[in-house]
Amino acid sequence: MKNIGLLTMITSVVTAVSSCAGGDAPVYLDASAPAAKRVEDLLSRMTLEEKVGQMNQFVGLEHIRKNEASLSEEDLKNNTANAFYPGFTADSVAEWTRQGLVGSFLHVLTIEEANYLQSLALQSRLAIPVIFGIDAIHGNANAPDNTVYPTNIGLASSFDTDLAYRIARETAAEMRAMNMHWTFNPNVEVARDPRWGRVGETYGEDPYLVTKMGVATVKGYQGDLSSDDVLACIKHFVGGSQPINGTNGSPTDLSERTIREVFFPPFEAGVDAGTMSLMTAHNELNGIPCHSNEWLMEEVARGEWGFKGFVVSDWMDIEHIYDLHATAENLKEAFYQSIMAGMDMHMHGVYWNEYVCELVREGRIPESRIDESVRRILDIKFRLGLFEHPYADEETTMDVRLCDAHRQTALEAARKSIVLLKNDGLLPLSPEKYRRVLVTGINADDHNILGDWSADQKPENVTTVLEGLKEVSPETDFVFVDQGWDPRNMSRRQVDRAASLARTCDLNIVVAGEYMYRGRWTERTSGEDTDRSDIDLVGLQNELIEKVHASGKPTVLVLISGRPLGVEWAAEHLPALVNAWEPGMYGGQAIAEILYGKVNPSAKLAVTIPRSSGQVQMIYNHKPSQYFHPYAVTPSTPLYPFGYGLSYNEYEYSDLSIDRTEIPADGQVKVSVKVTNHGAMDGDEIVQLYIRDRFSQVTRPVKELKDFARISLEPGETKTVEFTVTPDKLRFLDKNLKPIVEPGEFIVMAGSSSADEDLLKTSFRVK
Ligand code: BGC
Repeated sequence: MKNIGLLTMITSVVTAVSSCAGGDAPVYLDASAPAAKRVEDLLSRMTLEEKVGQMNQFVGLEHIRKNEASLSEEDLKNNTANAFYPGFTADSVAEWTRQGLVGSFLHVLTIEEANYLQSLALQSRLAIPVIFGIDAIHGNANAPDNTVYPTNIGLASSFDTDLAYRIARETAAEMRAMNMHWTFNPNVEVARDPRWGRVGETYGEDPYLVTKMGVATVKGYQGDLSSDDVLACIKHFVGGSQPINGTNGSPTDLSERTIREVFFPPFEAGVDAGTMSLMTAHNELNGIPCHSNEWLMEEVARGEWGFKGFVVSDWMDIEHIYDLHATAENLKEAFYQSIMAGMDMHMHGVYWNEYVCELVREGRIPESRIDESVRRILDIKFRLGLFEHPYADEETTMDVRLCDAHRQTALEAARKSIVLLKNDGLLPLSPEKYRRVLVTGINADDHNILGDWSADQKPENVTTVLEGLKEVSPETDFVFVDQGWDPRNMSRRQVDRAASLARTCDLNIVVAGEYMYRGRWTERTSGEDTDRSDIDLVGLQNELIEKVHASGKPTVLVLISGRPLGVEWAAEHLPALVNAWEPGMYGGQAIAEILYGKVNPSAKLAVTIPRSSGQVQMIYNHKPSQYFHPYAVTPSTPLYPFGYGLSYNEYEYSDLSIDRTEIPADGQVKVSVKVTNHGAMDGDEIVQLYIRDRFSQVTRPVKELKDFARISLEPGETKTVEFTVTPDKLRFLDKNLKPIVEPGEFIVMAGSSSADEDLLKTSFRVK
């Protein structure tokens, strides 16, 4: 530990606490005492102000200083990523921390600041450490100098839960190495609207896949919830991923059936997996803001599922009960409603401490209710070892962050998350045939490939697509035409320049898509609070693609995006199309390796790609009547369906069989299917199992993913994949929303995507 001064300070604080407690060290400072005893001991020593302070979270001092200098008070109102507190400076926050009136921080981006703030907290009367929360959504990317993995939508496309677990473990290690204890991830919302800018943060549209990825991630972060681990946070509870108009935080109006069938399962599984924090959603749900929704927090999460952790608000959302939703007449009333509905921690803001203390003194909120929340928060602080390990070591921090093993995982994840959507035989590229290659497009040479929720990372830690191409195919003459980073302001001159150079090249690679970089919050086109009314390419990107294609030279389109894009023209006219999502720090290398056949693509879409936003809601697991009357003029089929993705191999599915054709309601069926690699390369295939309940008392989806397996096959190899259909895979909610397995026919489908033509089918009956 570099900072010897700090150590002396902590020792003296502990001594001061011991002596004011009358000689013996208090139980709460005894690392060998059980957490529950330590919590009760500490709680009994705390004043009301200190308790309410534990329930409040602030942004870090550097964040405040930077934003004070660059934002106006007017800007603040609509800003959900940047903040300062008018009239309450960074120094005031520091002073409150020293007084033990702050329980947590977010948006602290360096180990030095984290250690410093912790030293302030440890100077407080009871020396209670703060817990640092951060949006470590894909690695701890939101802070500089950390490993940046693909975002969740790409990771989900790998269908690799072990990989998700490993990434979460590595992220936990990098976080603890910079004194961060709590990640606001996994986002286990089921994404059902591509206009919504946050699709990239999610694991896609299927409740089963979201559940599996979410659970693996929670387990990876939390381990056994001790000093090597971080606290996971399942969010946002709930429904914001099907916003009424596609915009973030707009109202959500959902039947209880849909909430329970589609949106709850990943949250319930997250609670079962031991998640100890949960974040409520910006939106109102059926007329009640999620932040004052007692049904969600108390009845469902705590009551039905037995959630034992704490609930944290989202940014300014308790305030919004008053100043946006207008279901509270003032801020104090909003705080009251939220706490009484089950809220434990307030994200970000100064009025909380004063008003909540008043509400207790006025007898409106019983102090016992405050104690419940503080108990939950302190319990986590003890379990994560914050009292024993309040600091991270500034000298060894970089031994962990960005270490070789983590970089290797980031590369593996990028390779496994890139989806090949179309290939008319052009790919893999032959360097002998295509000697001079045009590379252009807004994402061709830009760090935007890191994706949303990423800070600036050093150039040596990021491989852009152009850099990746040059590394992977050094013999090729790559001709780069810069289109700038900004899709909204592309230059037609540069587009035309690319078009004319295309004629002098043998092949064109256009790297297009969305712009997600947080540093240009108001200019970007996708990401948090950046929703669209269509899903087309922005700006002159289509024109660029069409003009380059007009050269007559083969053109490959690579998309970098957190949301599905309706690139119908390109899908029809270009010979090759790659969807790379937000592939992270080694995205450029992985894309190049796939284009040149060094890596065989294996990912499958975790979300349907519609042709246009007019098709929304476009999901594979829709109800039987959805296309009874198809659209006039334009197709009713998606551009690419859920579960779809090509390889350089052909995989043949055969011999789908089941071990019995009739079972009791509590019985099981074993399903097996053979998969053969007819290609010339080693490859991974993602084998998918879908089920349909043929006739049922309430309408059921035309198919639902119930299992999957990622298998590796050598050329010529055949493997038999087995799945077990257990009763939970057949269960649904009856007319009274009670779980039931009904007698009747169940169709079993196995294959390479959710499209009917890619599935083998058989069926069995439940007696
Ligand atoms: C987002 C959350 C995030 C929080 C803190 C909010 O605007 O909705 O997902 O965890 O900010 O950054």
